[in-house]
Amino acid sequence: MGLYFTHDRVGNPYVVGKAMMLRTTLIACLLLFSQLPASAGDYREEFEKGFLTKTWSGEQPESNYCIECHSSDRMKPAFLEIAEQWKASWHAQNGIACHNCHGGDPKDPSMSMSPHRGFVGTPKYAEVPEFCGKCHIGILKNYLDSGHGKALRTSGSGPNCATCHGSHNIQKANIEIISEQRCSKCHPYERAKTMKQALFLTEKKIDELETGLRRLKREGVYVDDNARNLFNIQAEFRTLFHSVDVNLVNDSTSHFAGRLAVAEKRIQNTFSELRFRRNFAAFILMIFACMGATLYLIIKTPKD
Ligand code: HEC
Ligand code: HEC
Ligand code: HEC
Ligand code: HEC
Ligand code: HEC
Repeated sequence: MGLYFTHDRVGNPYVVGKAMMLRTTLIACLLLFSQLPASAGDYREEFEKGFLTKTWSGEQPESNYCIECHSSDRMKPAFLEIAEQWKASWHAQNGIACHNCHGGDPKDPSMSMSPHRGFVGTPKYAEVPEFCGKCHIGILKNYLDSGHGKALRTSGSGPNCATCHGSHNIQKANIEIISEQRCSKCHPYERAKTMKQALFLTEKKIDELETGLRRLKREGVYVDDNARNLFNIQAEFRTLFHSVDVNLVNDSTSHFAGRLAVAEKRIQNTFSELRFRRNFAAFILMIFACMGATLYLIIKTPKD
C-alpha cells in the first residue's frame, strides 16, 4: 500500500526515525498550508501599504530645508510652533509639506523662499480658498458657490478654509467641526445646527462602514476595493457641506443612502466570505489531523 516504513518489515530504528520525521514534516506542512489564506492577506496589505498608497503622497525630497530651518534655533519663536503643528497633521502623514502649499524650493536653502522658485508666501485671508483649492478642487467649487464663498468675495465676512480647518494642524474632517464655538461667531448657531442634523445620518452610516472595514483589515482581509469605493462616496458627500445649503444636503440624502446600502452589502458579503474561509480552514485542518492519526495508527499496527 505504498507504506514502506513499518516496524516489522525493516525493524530498523533509523528508518522508524525517518518515518516519524516524515510524519511530523507532513503535518507541519499541512498546518502551514491551512494558514495560507491569512498570510496571503497580510502580504497584500503590506503591498498596498508599500506601493498603492504612495500615489497619494507628493514626492518628498530627502533633505527638506524648509522644515530643517523652520525647526532650528534660527527661527523666530512665534513661527517655531508651525513646523511642530504641521508634523502632527494629516497633511504631513500624506506627504504634503510646506512647499506643496507655499511653493518654493525645499532642496536649496539659499533660494528656497525666492519667488523665482515659485514661493508664494503667506496667503491673505481672502486668498486662502484658492490656495487650498488647487488640490481640493471639488470642495473649492462648492465653497465658491456657497453663501460663505460669496460673502468672502463680496464683503470679506465669510469664513475661509482655515477658519474651520486651521492651516498647519489640519486633521481628518468630520461633522464635529460644526460646533457652537466655531459656528456662532458670525451668525446664530441655529443655522449651523440644522446643517449638522442634515448630515448626521449619512455620516453615521459612513462611520459604521469604516469601522467594519477596519475590522476586516485587522483580520488580514483584502479590503482596498471596498475602501476605495467608500472613500469616493465619502469624498463626494463631504464636498456637499461646503455648499452650506441645507436643502441641497437633504435632497441628496436618499441618493447617498442608496449608494451606501450597496457598499454595505459588499462589505457584509466580505464578512460572510471570511467566516466561510475560516470554517473551511478549520475543516481542512481537521481532515489532515484525522489523516495524520490514521497514518500513525497504520504505522503502529503490527502487520503479522
Ligand atoms: C495645507 C497647506 C499648508 C501647509 C502644508 C503649510 N502651510 Fe504655512 N500657511 C498656510 C496658510 C493657509 C497660512 C496663512 C495663515 C493662516 O491661516 O494660518 C500659512 C501661514 C504660514 C506662515 C505665516 C504665519 C504668520 O503668522 O504670519 C508661516 C511662517 C508658514 N505658514 C510656514 C510654514 C511651514 C514652515 C510649513 C511646513 C512645516 C508650512 N507653513 C506648511 C498653509 C500651509
Ligand atoms: C535658511 C532658513 C529658511 C529656509 C530654508 C526656509 N525658511 Fe521660511 N522663513 C525663514 C525665516 C527666518 C522666516 C521669518 C522671516 C520674518 O518674517 O522675519 C521665514 C518665513 C517664512 C514664511 C512667512 C513669511 C512669508 O514670506 O510669507 C513662510 C510662509 C515660509 N517661511 C515658508 C517657507 C518654505 C515653504 C520654505 C521651503 C520652500 C522655507 N520657508 C524655507 C527661514 C527659512
Ligand atoms: C498640494 C495639495 C494640497 C493642498 C495645497 C492642500 N491639501 Fe488638503 N489634502 C491633500 C491631500 C493629498 C490630503 C490627504 C488625502 C485626503 O485625505 O483626502 C489632504 C487632506 C486634507 C483634509 C482631510 C481630509 C479627510 O480625509 O478628512 C483636509 C480637511 C484638508 N486637506 C484641508 C486643506 C486645507 C484647509 C488646505 C489649505 C490650507 C489644504 N487642505 C491644502 C492635499 C492638499
Ligand atoms: C467668519 C464668519 C462665519 C463663520 C465662522 C461661519 N459662518 Fe456661516 N455664514 C457666514 C456668512 C457671512 C453667511 C452668509 C450671509 C448670511 O446669510 O448671513 C453664512 C451663511 C451660513 C449658512 C446659510 C447659507 C445659505 O445659503 O442659506 C449656513 C447653513 C451656515 N452659514 C453654516 C455655518 C456653519 C455650519 C459654520 C461652522 C462650521 C459657520 N456657518 C461658520 C459667516 C460665517
Ligand atoms: C464653515 C466651515 C468650513 C469651511 C469654510 C470649509 N470647510 Fe471643509 N469641512 C468642513 C466640515 C464640517 C467638513 C466635514 C463635512 C462632513 O463630514 O460631511 C469638511 C470637510 C472637508 C474635507 C474632507 C473631505 C473628505 O473627503 O473627507 C476637506 C478636504 C475640506 N473640508 C477642505 C476644505 C477646503 C479646501 C476649504 C476651503 C475652500 C474648506 N474645506 C472650507 C467645514 C468647513
